Amino acid sequence: MTKQKIICDCDPGHDDAIAILLAANSPQLELLGVTIVAGNQTLDNTSRNACHVLQWLGKEDVPVYPGCGRPLVRDRVTAGDIHGETGLDGPVFPPLRKLPEREHAVHFLIRTLLDSQGDVTVVTSGPMTNLAMAMRMEPLIVEKIQRIVLMGGSYTNGNVTPAAEFNILADPEAAHICFTSGRPVTMIGLDVTRKVLCYPEIVERMAKVQNRASRLFVDLMGHFCKTQKEVFGWEGAPLHDPVTIASLLDPALTVTKPMNVRVDLSHGDSYGRTNCDVFHYLGLPATADVAVDIDVSRFWDIIEEGLRRYSETEAGA
Ligand code: RIB
Ligand code: CA
Repeated sequence: MTKQKIICDCDPGHDDAIAILLAANSPQLELLGVTIVAGNQTLDNTSRNACHVLQWLGKEDVPVYPGCGRPLVRDRVTAGDIHGETGLDGPVFPPLRKLPEREHAVHFLIRTLLDSQGDVTVVTSGPMTNLAMAMRMEPLIVEKIQRIVLMGGSYTNGNVTPAAEFNILADPEAAHICFTSGRPVTMIGLDVTRKVLCYPEIVERMAKVQNRASRLFVDLMGHFCKTQKEVFGWEGAPLHDPVTIASLLDPALTVTKPMNVRVDLSHGDSYGRTNCDVFHYLGLPATADVAVDIDVSRFWDIIEEGLRRYSETEAGA
């Protein structure tokens, strides 16, 4: 079976780390590289976090490319209240051996997409700055993007403001460039990610896998669930980012509806909102396949399967 080529563009980030875990060791996916953006934390932190995760999992061969350290236009925002000072508070990692690549993420995206046969899916789970910058820097890559699968937005309410979700609000102009690129877009928004809540019984289930991947999962969720409870009152943390990868591993995982999605770039209360035309009021062409439902039980099965694919011996101590 031909593996699906993907690039993960992310801001690790506890949930990004689980998305990387799923993507880096799947028989269905060829992870060409992990590109990093500032978001949950500063670029230095998010880059280091990606290296720690891949080293811990024994996947040091997956290259990490640091990218844009701030949004295209607006001021930089971070999410230390959720992800902590390091952006990956909780786990204690061994001394870091793995270094990020010297090539900038935007250059890697351009080079890889231009060299491709148009068969690369770009999965973003942070602010979309890198991908937007790449499209503006080299427009020839746009037609080479097979699909953009993003975690971000919502057609209900936000998680940073009443209107806006973090990944979009952190760089609305970048999101606008991606949504209007003309390429196929799958939007995995809060509407479905808030259905996959990592309750204590889920953590207990994954702990029983008893390998380094499951230990990483448990340590990450220890912090992530604590802060999500503090900030939102959730009894389980919504595991946002892995839904992107899981939906590639099992296309039946989510139900999507084609919608015209426009990012609000006005600088009022709705700045960064994804205005999703659920009922086709405007009669405009759809710009994204928006996830409207998810098979929650199947999602947790995919997570457990992902953990089990790692063995104790593969990890890089
Ligand atoms: O709003 C949730 C998203 O913002 C997730 O991707 C999380 O990691 C943060 O980047
Ligand atoms: Ca993220």
